Amino acid sequence: MPNDIPEPQAVTTPINRSAIFIVATLADGEEHAATARAWCADVAALVRSVGKRVPSGNLSCVVGFSSGAWDTLFGAPRPAQLHPFREFGPSERRAIATPGDILLHIRADQMDLCFELATQLITRLGESVQVVDEVHGFRYFDLRSMVGFVDGTENPTGREAIDFTMIGDEDPEFVSGSYVLAQKYLHDMTGWNALSVETQERIIGRTKLSDIELDDAVKPTSSHSSLTTLVENGQEVKILRDNMPFGRPGSGEFGTYFIGYARSPDPIEKMLENMFVGRPPGNYDRLLDFSHAATGGLFFVPSAPLLEALADRDPQAANTADDASPNVPADLPTSAEPAHEGSLNIGSLKGTSQYE
Ligand code: HEM
Repeated sequence: MPNDIPEPQAVTTPINRSAIFIVATLADGEEHAATARAWCADVAALVRSVGKRVPSGNLSCVVGFSSGAWDTLFGAPRPAQLHPFREFGPSERRAIATPGDILLHIRADQMDLCFELATQLITRLGESVQVVDEVHGFRYFDLRSMVGFVDGTENPTGREAIDFTMIGDEDPEFVSGSYVLAQKYLHDMTGWNALSVETQERIIGRTKLSDIELDDAVKPTSSHSSLTTLVENGQEVKILRDNMPFGRPGSGEFGTYFIGYARSPDPIEKMLENMFVGRPPGNYDRLLDFSHAATGGLFFVPSAPLLEALADRDPQAANTADDASPNVPADLPTSAEPAHEGSLNIGSLKGTSQYE
């Protein structure tokens, strides 16, 4: 990555074995907002402190903020496409919005590292936040999702992963930031396991054991793989997912924590619409007959230097400033120079009709 482009947070990390997902709401009051702001400058140091003890553990952490939290904590300027989670689908099959101001996505190859970092980060926030959801996810055999299919195969990698997830010149003050959509799904595993493998394969759109995409001649248009494939101007638009299975067999809880990163919320929301409403409407994702979304949140992930600099933001001053640039660290690009040559610029597209 060229030197003049801010370092992103650890969005495009290699696959890890363990993850902790924490969603917290902010307590009311300026003293709590000040604590949360100051914490932004501590995150990277805490990741270093915990992670350096086991270098092979590949510990990382991504921090995201909801639309409401951004306004409370940081004011203007704000990420161009940050908005509250948009719900999709009929009442019996709905992608619901649930409370959440701060998202922590902690990953490592061993759970003790995730656990220690989560403890350190949450302890620092103290009473300034209330954790409303915490999920400890594990990698299941050969990258299987809870429903038994390999998950993540069609993720973009390398340069493509960066182009699809990092904001470029479409929002110059937030270069190298990302949007992340998180949902906790709970599965009816008894119902799912009662289906034949062939039926499950038509629902997912891939073979179960060998993870090969079904031929278009037999793959239903309602398959998960079809409905989450977006094509814009003849080119596929991808997102970067890092779903994790989780659960408590003794309580009958079997889940998938869905987490998807992109440089705009648009493609992730379009996928959700296709899954929950259907493409065309009614031709919805049958995986949802056996899975329901228990949570939903959309968050903005600032670049690593911006996360640190946010500690010094004064939301009141920022809201009244003529020029927003004083809130942006001097080393972040503020011009409209292209930051990602060859990118698809999907962040500049609005509405829901741009995908085939
Ligand atoms: C119940 C939760 C979910 C489960 C268990 C699940 C599982 C899977 C599996 C097994 C695959 C096939 C392998 C792969 O390419 O990764 C897949 C593909 C995919 N999923 Fe999901 N998924 C879930 C939710 C979602 C949601 C909410 C979205 C987007 C909003 C999504 C987007 C995608 C995309 C983009 C692909 C790749 C499609 C392709 O290019 O063929 N998934 N998912």
